[in-house]
Amino acid sequence: MAVSLFLEPASAEKTVKLKAKSDSKPTASSKKVAVGSLTQIAHGKKLFERLTCAGCHPSGGNTLHPYRPLKGPEFLSRYKEDGQIEKLIRAGVARAGMPAFSKTQVNDKDMKDLIAFIRSMTPSTNK
Ligand code: HEC
Repeated sequence: MAVSLFLEPASAEKTVKLKAKSDSKPTASSKKVAVGSLTQIAHGKKLFERLTCAGCHPSGGNTLHPYRPLKGPEFLSRYKEDGQIEKLIRAGVARAGMPAFSKTQVNDKDMKDLIAFIRSMTPSTNK
């Protein structure tokens, strides 16, 4: 993945759409997946640890349900859009032991950063 995309601070929500920087290839913008800035990904990683996600999902794995990691091609095919990941994290999966995270626990900005970090664990997000 091209990590050089956004080095400006992650203040803008518009980072979801790739800006037509002179050197960016048009193919990279075609998916409904946020390409996080480095700032977002770094913050998302901190949240991932602070919110205890990393306890059950070390390195994007899944200690309770190993067949449900947060990375890799199958994960990508189950979660084509970031909104689907957010829904799952907000609702949790009670019967499986995945806690629900409310907006009080994770506000919308933090949720974006968290998802940017999760996405970053699968290098080839852009097919
Ligand atoms: C107590 C353990 C636990 C914690 C803490 C936890 N999870 Fe999970 N998570 C699970 C389990 C178990 C599943 C599998 C649910 C299923 O089988 O449907 C899961 C599933 C998921 C999935 C969907 C994976 C898939 O392939 O369908 C995502 C995304 C996810 N967790 C993100 C997070 C994030 C982000 C956090 C922290 C904010 C977090 N989880 C915290 C146990 C946990």
